Amino acid sequence: MNRRCFLKKSVAATSVIMSSGFMLASCRRALRTDLMGIDNRSAKTGKLAPDFYKILYYASLAPSGHNSQPWFVKMTSATEWIVGSDSNRWLPEVDGSNREAMLSIGAFVENLVQAASVFGYRVKTTVIAQNPFDPNVVKLNISKSKPLDISLQKIVARRTVKNNMLSKELKTSDVNDFSKSVDSHLVYFPGGTDHAGLMDKEAVANYVIQSNNKKAMKELAYWVRLKDVDAKKYRDGLTTDGMEITGMAGWYVRHFMDKKDVMSKAFCDKGIKKTKAQVKEGAGWLVITSDGNTVTDLIETGRRFQRMALSAREKMIAIHPMTQTLEEKYGQKNIKKNHHPGMIPQFMLRVGYLNKYPDPVSLRRPVEWFVRS
Ligand SMILES: Cc1cc2nc3c(=O)[nH]c(=O)nc-3n(C[C@H](O)[C@H](O)[C@H](O)COP(=O)(O)O)c2cc1C
Repeated sequence: MNRRCFLKKSVAATSVIMSSGFMLASCRRALRTDLMGIDNRSAKTGKLAPDFYKILYYASLAPSGHNSQPWFVKMTSATEWIVGSDSNRWLPEVDGSNREAMLSIGAFVENLVQAASVFGYRVKTTVIAQNPFDPNVVKLNISKSKPLDISLQKIVARRTVKNNMLSKELKTSDVNDFSKSVDSHLVYFPGGTDHAGLMDKEAVANYVIQSNNKKAMKELAYWVRLKDVDAKKYRDGLTTDGMEITGMAGWYVRHFMDKKDVMSKAFCDKGIKKTKAQVKEGAGWLVITSDGNTVTDLIETGRRFQRMALSAREKMIAIHPMTQTLEEKYGQKNIKKNHHPGMIPQFMLRVGYLNKYPDPVSLRRPVEWFVRS
């Protein structure tokens, strides 16, 4: 943004700030609750049995890189569904191998299986994709079973949290619980240890590299939904709330910035400053590893991650994936140098206890937008 443009935007901002009634209204943020109630079912999903609709709604609350929601569901019959990978929702610049798309689809499948069990359905899952670019990824066979007593609220309340982490080390009991939910594919590096320091450094260095990559920033800008009108229209991507740009700053960004500004030096510098501050916060890093890199490994790892993430809120633990180190060649090279070849890191997660857990804010597409018959 040049000086003239900044001044123009500042004058506009000031005049709107003066009309405080308007500002109060637009600072009130309830997009997710307004748009995404489970009862907001549209006529188009009328053919779907109510339980199936709900199961897919809960599945869709899964996390995904840039909140691109790379899944679709094809119903080949009432009891056989295919979870697919939507190529329009891949992130070729930062996730050229579709590794993260597969992890996100794994998280979706985990939510789906858990929600189905609450409604009295057992889901047999079979990975059918031969490689991460196949459109059909997981086949689901659904049969009736005894309903399980699992909390759906855990699925609703889970979210990514990036700020206000406390520095207190994670309790051994919490790390052990997390480790159980990922079948022991977990390593914890407490803050202040040498390895956590290395990971902090890598997180910042690779964030900077990515910020200087015009194509990656263009891709990010594509998935950014600064204006409420876009957030409501697309129901995906990164809103100001999702990026934790809140209060006056969020209000300013929503009203006076656009996609072009996301690629500006000022926006990138802000992101780098924020990342440097973030790595100083919290209890260190959790790394989820896998035994291999096949589609089956990645789907299983996404499912494990989600199982862990679903128990984070009750432990008051924030989880913030910081993926740039795994995405950039520089980070990948340094990981190779510092680890034995059998250790394949799939998630680098900054973690920390919170005093107050914020409610989820990111948006999801309605069920009827991702179900194909
Ligand atoms: C595979 C994967 C990679 C992610 N990488 C990042 C990341 O590098 N930085 C970040 O802030 N969030 C990252 N996230 C979190 C997503 O941005 C977040 O899940 C999405 O915006 C939806 O928000 P929610 O988790 O609060 O529902 C990642 C999530 C997944 C599943």
